[in-house]
Amino acid sequence: MLIGVPLETAAAETRVAVTPETAKKLKAQGHQLFVQSGAGINAAAPDAAYAAVGAEVVDAKAAFGCDLVLKVRPPAVEELALMKRGATVVGMLNPFDREGLERLAAAGLTAFALEAAPRTTRAQSMDVLSSQANIAGYKAVILAADRYQKFFPMLMTAAGTVKAARVVILGVGVAGLQAIATAKRLGAVIEASDVRPSVKEQVESLGAKFIDVPYETAEEKEAAEGVGGYARPMPESWLSRQRAEVAKRVALADVVISTALIPGRPAPKLVSAEMVQSMKPGSVVVDLAAANGGNCALTVPGQIVQAHGVTIVGETNLPALVAADASALYARNVLDFLKLVLPKDAASVNVPMDDDIVAACLMTQDSQVKRS
Ligand code: NAI
Repeated sequence: MLIGVPLETAAAETRVAVTPETAKKLKAQGHQLFVQSGAGINAAAPDAAYAAVGAEVVDAKAAFGCDLVLKVRPPAVEELALMKRGATVVGMLNPFDREGLERLAAAGLTAFALEAAPRTTRAQSMDVLSSQANIAGYKAVILAADRYQKFFPMLMTAAGTVKAARVVILGVGVAGLQAIATAKRLGAVIEASDVRPSVKEQVESLGAKFIDVPYETAEEKEAAEGVGGYARPMPESWLSRQRAEVAKRVALADVVISTALIPGRPAPKLVSAEMVQSMKPGSVVVDLAAANGGNCALTVPGQIVQAHGVTIVGETNLPALVAADASALYARNVLDFLKLVLPKDAASVNVPMDDDIVAACLMTQDSQVKRS
C-alpha cells in the first residue's frame, strides 16, 4: 500500500507521524512510503534518514495523495483538497471537534482518531494520550525549573542553605504522575491533588504527599469513581472544599503544575486569580490544560505571562517541545494501530468493526461521521 507522511503545518507543530525507525518497519511489511521533504526535520529525522530506509522523499501533493496518510494533527482545509476520496487518514484528529470530523467526512475519508482508543491493556501500546502526556508532564517540570529563579533541590553550601522548591501538582493522570517523578528527581518537595481516590497510592509511591479532600456524600463518591479511568465533573460541594485545600498549598508553593482534564469538556478551573495573587513573587505556574481553557484563571493559551509577580506558562503543545522522543513514541503508537487495520502486504485498509479499538477510533467512513 502507498503510505503518505506529510510535513505537519499546524502552528508550532514539530512532530512527525512516522520516524525512520517505523518507516523501515512499514517497508519491511511490503508498503511503499512517500515522505514529504522536511517532514521529520524538526524531530531530528532529516530527509536522508528516510531515504536511507527506502522511503521516497516527495512534495506535499504526493504525500497527501496516498491511499493511507499518517498524520499527527488533522489535515488543514487546503490539505484535504490534496487527498483522494476513499483514502484513509490516521492521526490525533480531535474526536470532540464535530466540525473538523464533518470536514473529513465531506472529503470522503476513512478517518481514525487515535485519542479515542479505549484505556484497556490491549490498547496501551497505541495509547497516544499516554505517550504524549508522559512527555508533557516531564517538559512542564523542565520549563518550570527554567523559569523559576531558584534551585529545586535543597542545598547546603558554605554560603548558606537553599531550601527545596515546593511543587504542587493538580491532576494526577499520566502527565501529573510524570511531573511528580521528574520534580522528585530534581529534589523538590511535592504535594498533589486529584478527584480520583485511586490516585492517592500512586502519588505516595512516588514520594509525594496527597492532598486529601474526603467525600462527604454518595454523590461525591460516585462522581469521583469516574468512568473508564477518566474523571467526571465533581459536585460543587466537593470542588469548593478542594479549592480551599488547594488554595492553602498554592499560597506556599514555588511551582504549580496543573494537568486536570475532563474529556470533552473545558478544563476545571482550580487556580483562581486570588490564588495566583497569594503566591510568592517569582513563583511559576505551568498550565498543561491551557489548550482546553486552562486550570488557572490567568492562563493565556500559547503565551507565557506575568501576573502578580508570578510567571504563568500557557504552552499548548508541550510534547512538540520534545519533538524527537514525542515523535518516536507517537510513531510506534501509529505502527501498532496499523497492525489492526493493515495486514501485511495488504492493498487496502480493513475496518474490522468487531475490534473494539478500531470501532472506537473510527470517526468517519463513507462520507458519514460515525461518532455519536
Ligand atoms: P486526563 O488527562 O483526562 O486528566 C488528568 C487528570 O486530571 C486525571 O487524573 C483526572 O482525574 C484529573 N482531574 C479532573 N478533574 C480534576 C479536578 N477538578 N481536580 C483535580 N484533578 C482533576 O487523564 P489521563 O492522564 O488521560 O488518565 C486518565 C486515567 O486513565 C488515569 O487513571 C490513568 O491511570 C488511566 N490510564 C489507563 C490506561 C490503561 O489502562 N491502558 C492507559 C493510560 C491511562
